[in-house]
Amino acid sequence: MNLEVIILAAGQGSRMQSDLPKVLHQVAGKAMLSHVLDTATGLGAAQLHVVVGHGSEQVQEALADKEVNWVLQEQQLGTGHAVLQALPQVAEDAVVLVLYGDVPLITVDSLKPLVAAAKSGPALLTAVLPDATGYGRVVRNAAGDLQAVVEDRDASAEQRLICEINTGVLAAPASFLRDFLPRVRNENSQNEYYLPDVLSMQVEAGAKVATCESQTAVEIEGVNNRSQLSRVEREFQQRLAQQLLLQGVGIADPARLDVRGSLRCGRNVFIDVNVVVEGDVVLGDNVSIGPNCVIIDSVIEAGSTIHAMSHLQEAKIGSDCNVGPYARLRSGTDLSTGAKVGNFVETKKAKIGQGSKVNHLSYIGDCSMGAGVNVGAGTITCNYDGVNKYQTELGDGVFIGSNSTLVAPLTVQAQGFVAAGSTITKTVEEDELAVARGRQRNIQGWQRPQANKGQS
Ligand code: UD1
Ligand code: CA
Repeated sequence: MNLEVIILAAGQGSRMQSDLPKVLHQVAGKAMLSHVLDTATGLGAAQLHVVVGHGSEQVQEALADKEVNWVLQEQQLGTGHAVLQALPQVAEDAVVLVLYGDVPLITVDSLKPLVAAAKSGPALLTAVLPDATGYGRVVRNAAGDLQAVVEDRDASAEQRLICEINTGVLAAPASFLRDFLPRVRNENSQNEYYLPDVLSMQVEAGAKVATCESQTAVEIEGVNNRSQLSRVEREFQQRLAQQLLLQGVGIADPARLDVRGSLRCGRNVFIDVNVVVEGDVVLGDNVSIGPNCVIIDSVIEAGSTIHAMSHLQEAKIGSDCNVGPYARLRSGTDLSTGAKVGNFVETKKAKIGQGSKVNHLSYIGDCSMGAGVNVGAGTITCNYDGVNKYQTELGDGVFIGSNSTLVAPLTVQAQGFVAAGSTITKTVEEDELAVARGRQRNIQGWQRPQANKGQS
């Protein structure tokens, strides 16, 4: 079967109180419309059509990397009108599935049976809600066959008691929509062309409309305001945390993990509370992430521990490393096996060799370190002269005493030793000791300052 998906995304979304077009607001770090496009792709759609109107240029620009046929609906004259704009570009023999750019959680599981049911005629995705206020109601006859969808504001008091609603999601053969959609009229309270009106036309023509019920009530929820957006976000995060738990990832509290992107985990990973993951993150076997860490586009290999309050971005952590607490690993940080970066250390474009340690209060930028290096507390690589950046090279087994200033470009060769409190500007050769600080003088019999008498 040739499936084509039409996604409606022309509405303004004025209740978001935002300049950003509604469908670009994000759920789990990804535009709502992107979620829907990915779901449609997951269904094996041959073509994706997106109907845009308000903020159409911004929407197209933001999703320029997607293979989409963009259809402009200049005036929002209703859901039926919106689908009609895309229809001329749909293949004759296709089955059409209509989705919404602001209903991001809809699942492939709910859509598959609907698409299957639509091979020979229209099929509607319905849901039963305890409070159906605002939704179009599904009106059935005594035999239980769908007769019509009646919009909330056009419904009678009796129809408003119906709990079965139109989710808005519908599938039908393209040929059916070509026949019926142009005949839909806008004689209703909103003077809009309602898409579900094609269903009552089908019934009037003596045929049936199939219905499928949504797997869950929450996935058909649309986002009209930020309150609904936050609810959808929480729902998404809960789903993801449950998936991870069932894959064997230890999560201290599934309500306190946020994944805004993709997280891949090995075996026996543990994630403590309030962790935020962004972009692509990979955690190897037996990795442990402490509370309140932010991890962005990073790879952490087996057996490493990231302690509380650490912030990692575009970092690569080898196996059996220790990071934090309170470490900030910026872009281009690369730790080899068994390396340690401790509290209040900032690194950037820093290669920390096997078993090397930067344990306390340091800035290490544009630096390449060999194996077994020890960097003392308070060491600073002076990598920037206000215009250019320079490199610091530390060979295997180098020891940098505490509170040292390494003025780049600089090389300390293997086994070089820098005395504490030094400002190093010249190459330190293999096995040398470099001392660059004021010599200590002890003055005997000196006078401590005395308070001046008569003054306060
Ligand atoms: C629609 C259904 C209603 C259903 C509800 C489910 C109709 C007439 N009503 O109502 O039965 O219960 O969804 O949420 O279909 N859009 C366009 N162009 C338009 C009009 C709408 O792209 O001209 C888009 C909107 O951006 C939105 C979606 O279609 O994403 C739904 O439109 P909206 O006006 O919100 O329909 P509802 O009143 O919610
Ligand atoms: Ca709506």
